[in-house]
Amino acid sequence: MKINRRSLIKGSVAAGAFTAAGFPHIWTKDASLAYAAGNEIKVGVLFSLTGTTGIIEESLNKATIMAIEEVNAAGGINGMKIVPIVEDPASDPATFAEKARKLVLGDKCVSVFGSYTSASRKAVLPVFEKRKNLYWYPTLYEGRECSKNVIYTGAVPNQQQDEFVPWLVKTFGKRWSLIGSNYIYPKEENNYCKKLLAGLGAEVIREEYVPLGHSEFSSVVNKFRAEKPDVIFSTVVGDSVVALHRQYRAAGLDPEKMPMASLTTSENEVAAMGGDAAAGHFTSAPYFMVWDSPENQKFVDAYRSRWGADKVTHFVSEPSYFQVKMFAEACSKLAPGDINPANIREAVKGIEMMAPQGEVRLDAATLHTYLWPKIGQCKSDGQFEIIKQSSSWLAPVPYKAYENQTCTEQGLKET
Ligand code: ACM
Repeated sequence: MKINRRSLIKGSVAAGAFTAAGFPHIWTKDASLAYAAGNEIKVGVLFSLTGTTGIIEESLNKATIMAIEEVNAAGGINGMKIVPIVEDPASDPATFAEKARKLVLGDKCVSVFGSYTSASRKAVLPVFEKRKNLYWYPTLYEGRECSKNVIYTGAVPNQQQDEFVPWLVKTFGKRWSLIGSNYIYPKEENNYCKKLLAGLGAEVIREEYVPLGHSEFSSVVNKFRAEKPDVIFSTVVGDSVVALHRQYRAAGLDPEKMPMASLTTSENEVAAMGGDAAAGHFTSAPYFMVWDSPENQKFVDAYRSRWGADKVTHFVSEPSYFQVKMFAEACSKLAPGDINPANIREAVKGIEMMAPQGEVRLDAATLHTYLWPKIGQCKSDGQFEIIKQSSSWLAPVPYKAYENQTCTEQGLKET
């Protein structure tokens, strides 16, 4: 058997004998691929710290940084430190694309963790696909994407709606109003919702979209008052979530008779609006801060001790945290000279790990994640009471609304 340097290094890693300090970074043949150079692995952190989704993305930055600090404190990746390069794309898709190019081409990051909105993910996607880099996306989204250059750790529609919508119809009724921010995510999510509602014999009496950053909901709220839907299904995002809930409450509407059922209202937005404005409304998500598990207790305690005792964790900060751990585990399977986006993607396929929400698995075919759907009702203390939880993890089906399309390891398959 011919033994070359690469297989020797790989073998020594597998045997646990390798320490980075023992090998200067001579193993990379091509300087442009020196991702693990100088005992450091650079990654980008691309969440908005300002602008309309800064309200939530700032907490995704914090969860990401905390996870990186934990990996480094525990010895790094086979002795190498993860070095985060933080950029603020200011809730603007064009700035996301510009900063992504800087992180991938200028800083030579081996991966970038980023984005809340699908608009910003779509804006950076060409950068990652053209440069064959990896984007780690922690947010719930509309599905209908099958990229080899994105690792998706948030929920897709089947993981938030399959239990939620039938339960809401059974509990509250069949006349629904849909309200969302005006971009791809709410529209696709609502397409899926309308399919489920049609199958349940329910009707949509209003479907309305407001601009991102919208803060004047009085005319929408007046329509709710006049039309009296059984359920208001909300995919409004960012600081608009705060305005919608406050104006609903100020108008004296009653969540017991006309609840808002949201896919985007987390503990984070509730903290900003005040628990009274959110009390009684429902959210479907794989994670709530009150989830009772040792892993979650550890996550919440660490987050509060790092960022402040008043801070909350939620269903987008939790995947922001565990996806860094997945990245580290994938990199730790590779010899330093083999750490590049393509090898990380292969190494992450099928990874299972205990996350704060429960055990999660990165699906090899779709690069999406098996998650644990739950339904929570918000209380006036700003936390959710979990009123329903799935008995097993649920596979991601990113094309469930499109029966003729499937995401496979070979790419999108159309029949
Ligand atoms: C989203 O835009 N995926 C919330």
